[in-house]
Amino acid sequence: PGAGWTTYADVVVIGSGIAGLTTALQAREQLGSVMVVTKDILSAGSTRWAQGGIAAALGPGDTPGQHLADTLVAGAGLCDEESVRVLVTEGPDAVRELIDLGTRFDQDAAGELSLTREGGHHRDRIAHAGGDATGAEIQRALVEAVHAAPEIEVIEHALVIDLIPGADGGIAGVTLHVMGEGQRDGVGAVHCRAVVLASGGLGQVYSATTNPSVSTGDGMALALRAGAVLRDLEFVQFHPTVMWLGSGSTGQQPLISEAVRGEGAFLVDDQGRRFMQGQHELADLAPRDVVAKAIMRRMRETGRSHVWLDARHFGKEKWEVRFPTILATCRSHGIDPVRSLIPVAPACHYASGGVATDLHGQSSIPGLFACGEVACSGVHGANRLASNSLLEGLVFSRRIAQRLREDLPARREPVADTRTPGLVDGAVRRELQDVMTERAGVLRSRDGLDLGDKELGDLSQRSGDRPGVDAWETSNLATVASALLGAARMREETRGSHWREDFPDRDDQQWLRHIDVRLLDGAL
Ligand code: SIN
Repeated sequence: PGAGWTTYADVVVIGSGIAGLTTALQAREQLGSVMVVTKDILSAGSTRWAQGGIAAALGPGDTPGQHLADTLVAGAGLCDEESVRVLVTEGPDAVRELIDLGTRFDQDAAGELSLTREGGHHRDRIAHAGGDATGAEIQRALVEAVHAAPEIEVIEHALVIDLIPGADGGIAGVTLHVMGEGQRDGVGAVHCRAVVLASGGLGQVYSATTNPSVSTGDGMALALRAGAVLRDLEFVQFHPTVMWLGSGSTGQQPLISEAVRGEGAFLVDDQGRRFMQGQHELADLAPRDVVAKAIMRRMRETGRSHVWLDARHFGKEKWEVRFPTILATCRSHGIDPVRSLIPVAPACHYASGGVATDLHGQSSIPGLFACGEVACSGVHGANRLASNSLLEGLVFSRRIAQRLREDLPARREPVADTRTPGLVDGAVRRELQDVMTERAGVLRSRDGLDLGDKELGDLSQRSGDRPGVDAWETSNLATVASALLGAARMREETRGSHWREDFPDRDDQQWLRHIDVRLLDGAL
């Protein structure tokens, strides 16, 4: 659509979680203007839902080297070791900087950071806040800092429709639809020198997810349409312990943090039998893919749609102090975890892949950067280690800001966008989510993925009559879903969070490599 208004900012940051706001805060110092564009309000998005915490080698006896080792094991051979090294060595300072900014992490009786453990970690290295409200506290501190920074312009309720191509093949700006009032209402254009995608993940591609409703894969779809390379899209992490609200429950589902198991809770089946012991040396605290698969297997064996998490032995006081958010959520659904088991099942949680970047967040297209869940910086490989995601957003946004401060791309001439991407009918969103859940969920096979590809193709043919948020978001979901399905079909092995029933083994000879996806002339 044609732009009704045009403005300029040196840098446009799309998204307002830990990655976006840290980029804006750190980049603003030497830049004239930074604009943050967010689809909802500044404090919405995935960061504020993070419970467990942020991982960094901050405890006595812990080292970046040990954090590196745990991250590489979870990533099942596909992490970029250099990128992980950056994450774990810069992580502790980045967390300290977050504390200096005003984030109040929980402390022990001696006034030291209180650290806990989650799946796949061999050390207590997860810093948390408000018990289980870590993301909300980090988001609070970042939002306050952004409000106090006059160089940062914030546009809320603004959906980015597309990236504007520049004359040299780079990115020259964004077109966006602002659902607001005043000067910046309706469709407009922002010309800039660099766009930073920090728009989060794609959880809404599936029918049940821990992600908020804004996680519709927008940044990945924008990057795909602009011709950028996306990597590791098949590796979608299913969190093992998401509260089961009944068959057919859709949309954002309540997370029961891995930190609950870190503090001693354990999984049982409908006969009350513990089933993680003997599956892995870390039992209930094995890496997330191992636990999710064990749960799925047990659900199949028992014919039930969920298993149970037992944390009754915590007692009321521990629940109230350590996990107040989860306690309140359970109670709001009629379950008192002090007395009862919590029904849980795996649900979509995190996209380990995304827009391929270098160590400074640079994508394959000049002027386009990415960080946080939308990016694939190489730190997660085939399966992200718990609580490494807030850390990734924090560490790599600092690096992008550093790059922008030192070497801001030149302003490029916008050129007419000749692409005419078809819009998918917003009404097909639910069917699309069902197709992806059924065909490309935790368990995948060639037959299911082939069928899914066909069904998705049919749904994508249903064009909507009018542009609008629903149609733009659903089109983004369809673009990303199709790329994800393509990568999942291609990878004929089981690795990390990609589980092929027809290829149950890890195949290092064929598949110790990444799958890169790009759109060429509109086709994958
Ligand atoms: C959790 O608290 O279990 C989630 C942590 C994460 O996804 O890293």
